[in-house]
Amino acid sequence: MRSDAPLSRRTLLAAPFVAGALAACDRFATAEPAPVAAPPLKSVAAFPIGSAVMAGQLDDPAWVALARREVNQLTPEWEMKMEYILQSPDRLTFDAPDRIAEACHASGARLHGHALIWYSQGEQVFSGFDRTHFPRAFDRYIAEVAGRYRGKVVSWDVVNEPIAEDGNGLRDSHWSRALGADGYMIRAFEQTKLADPEAVLFLNEYNLENNPTKGATFLRTVERLLKAGAPIGGLGTQSHLDIEIPAGQITTLIRELGGFGLPVHVSELDASLRREGVGDLRSRTQRLEQQRGRVIELAEAFMALPEHQRFAFTAWGLRDSDSWLRRGDRDDGQDQPLLFDDAGQPKPLTAALAGVFAGR
Ligand code: XIL
Repeated sequence: MRSDAPLSRRTLLAAPFVAGALAACDRFATAEPAPVAAPPLKSVAAFPIGSAVMAGQLDDPAWVALARREVNQLTPEWEMKMEYILQSPDRLTFDAPDRIAEACHASGARLHGHALIWYSQGEQVFSGFDRTHFPRAFDRYIAEVAGRYRGKVVSWDVVNEPIAEDGNGLRDSHWSRALGADGYMIRAFEQTKLADPEAVLFLNEYNLENNPTKGATFLRTVERLLKAGAPIGGLGTQSHLDIEIPAGQITTLIRELGGFGLPVHVSELDASLRREGVGDLRSRTQRLEQQRGRVIELAEAFMALPEHQRFAFTAWGLRDSDSWLRRGDRDDGQDQPLLFDDAGQPKPLTAALAGVFAGR
């Protein structure tokens, strides 16, 4: 469907008769679907329901009220990453993550740590270390951060996004170049285990459902790392879903992840209504149907896991307007990738999800 679109939307819109026909369809409709009633997700699910959070959102009473009603686990969206914590050359910055940790403690929500080692981060600081000091600094960072939040987080994304973009093999990064392709991951898991022996330690990746090659590489990587003794305690699938993937692909991936017997975390769910890069003549109704199909498939596949393997089901934000897909250049003001509308109201998708979680 993606590759065979013969004309771009721009080209089509240049033809007045086509533009007239398109204007009549709901492709350009902006009205939100009427909100529907849905029980709080956390009240119907037998596992934690999560959301991403930024410290600033804790000052937004509407965000806080929605979070308290709907979720019982939070993942810092940005402020527990190396990019934030290592922003100053001479000290680690913990103000925002501490604030999030306190908010979790005060409200009784679980805190999922995200993320210790991520390919794109820390390069500038770590490039200053030679072969002797690099591994020491690596260990020290993990000890400081995971040690600080010991007893406060329930889990960590220890290594985030280790698989190559196209799914063929592992990603080349400053970590892999210094410590080995599998070596940096094994070391990160071992060091995190030392710093926080109780936390569930996750390997987290994206596009696993969207790209079966990447899914297969991830599974092989997990197998290899476990064999090498890495203390991996859980598997995270970010689930930034492409709503146009064939039915069944998500189910297969979740079932395969479950095959390791470890807890599975749907760790960053969102499902954009947009299609990048090529023309798009889908109506809004069609897109919402595709979105509902894939998100519900994900929820059903998650529910099909044995109960002890359902770690948590986390969306990458609460309201559509909170989404990273609705910020800056990426914001067309119309995408609806999350589970609550801009006003924080549940949608038909939310109600359907609640039904799956409740086992109806
Ligand atoms: C994104 C955040 O949403 C943005 O605010 C930030 O600028 C960049 O990172 N995979 C991940 C998340 O593991 O940490 C990313 O979050 C989204 C993709």
